[in-house]
Amino acid sequence: MSQIRSVVLGCGSYLPARILSNDELARSVETTDEWIVQRTGIRERHIAAPGEMTSDLALHAARAALANSHVQADSIDLIVLATSTPDFTFPATAVTVQAGLGITRGAAFDLQAVCSGFVYALSVTDAMLRTGMYKRALVIGAETFSRILDWNDRTTCVLFGDGAGAVVLEAQEQPGTTADRGILTTHLRSDGRHKSKLYVDGGPSSTQTVGHLRMEGREVFKHAVAMITDVIYDAFKATGTSAEDIDWFVPHQANKRIIDGSAHKLGIAPEKVVMTVDRHGNTSAASIPLALADAVADRRIKRGHLVLLEAMGGGFTWGSAMLRW
Ligand code: UT7
Repeated sequence: MSQIRSVVLGCGSYLPARILSNDELARSVETTDEWIVQRTGIRERHIAAPGEMTSDLALHAARAALANSHVQADSIDLIVLATSTPDFTFPATAVTVQAGLGITRGAAFDLQAVCSGFVYALSVTDAMLRTGMYKRALVIGAETFSRILDWNDRTTCVLFGDGAGAVVLEAQEQPGTTADRGILTTHLRSDGRHKSKLYVDGGPSSTQTVGHLRMEGREVFKHAVAMITDVIYDAFKATGTSAEDIDWFVPHQANKRIIDGSAHKLGIAPEKVVMTVDRHGNTSAASIPLALADAVADRRIKRGHLVLLEAMGGGFTWGSAMLRW
C-alpha cells in the first residue's frame, strides 16, 4: 500500500574558516597531537569567529541545502533546528534562520537532544511530514560548542568543534516498500539516569549563566557502542534489512574508536563508513549532516543508496535513522 515518505531533496553544510590543529591546542593545554589522534582520531576542528553565531552557521548550511535541492526558500513550510548552543535562551535559533531566509509562513522551532539532535530532528520532522501537516522541511544541525568549552580542561576542549549541516525533506507518495526513497525508519531512545555523565554546568533556571561542558569521557565511551548498536538492530528489524544491505554508514562523529567499534560489531565494512571526525572533531548535532554533505559532495552517496545514521550523546540520548537517498 502506498505511503507518504520524507524524501531527501538535497543537503548542504558550512564550516567556519578558522581551523584549530592539535599542535596549536598543545600550546595552551597539556596534550599532544599523538594522544588526541590515538584516542579520538581527531586532527583538527573548525572554530566560529568572534560574533559568528549558531544561526549564521545554520543559515549558510540551509542556503547550501536549498541550492543543492534546487528549491526556493519560500517553498519551505517547516524548519527544525537541532542545537544545544542556541544564539539566545529564546527565541529559537530556528526563527532567526527562518527570517534570514525570508520565510514568513509555516513553523520553525529548535530541538535539543545534544549529539543525538539531528537524528531526533529527522524523526520528529518525518512524523510531521507523514501526517500531512507540512510539505517541505529544512532539518538543520548547527553548533558553536567552542562557546561552552572550558579551554583549560584538556579532557574536553580537544574533542569538539563548530559547524552546521542541513537537509531538505519533502513529503512524497511512495509505493510503501523498503525500496522506497526517503526515511524508512527512525528509533529514538533516552535514559536520564545518565544525565550527570555529560552535561553543561549552567543554564537560565539553575545558575543564570551559560556554563561549561563537563564529561566523564570514559563512562560515555563505556555505554556508546552498546547503545548505538542496539538502536541499529531496531532499524534492521523494522525494515527487514541487514548490514550487507547498507550502502553508507554515517555515524555521529565523536570518536573514531567508537565508530570503528560499532561498525565492526554490526559487520559493516570499513569502506562503507563515512568518517569526518579527523577534520571536524565532534560537532554534536551538526556532525551527521556535515558528514552527509561531505559524502554527497564527493559523489559517494548517490540517489537510491541505503544510508544508515546513528547518534549517541548527553542525556543519555541515542537513536538511529535509515533512509534511501
Ligand atoms: O558526542 C557525545 C558523546 N561523547 C563521546 O562519545 C565521548 C566518549 N568518550 C571518549 O571519546 C573518550 O573517553 C575520551 C576521548 C574522552 C578519552 O579517552 P579514554 O581512552 O577514555 O581516556 P581516559 O579518559 O581514560 O584518560 C586516559 C588518560 C588519563 O590519564 P591517567 O588518569 O590514565 O593518568 C587522562 O588524564 O589520558 C589523560 N588525558 C589526556 N592526556 C593527554 C585526558 N585527556 C587528555 C588529553 N591529552 N587531551
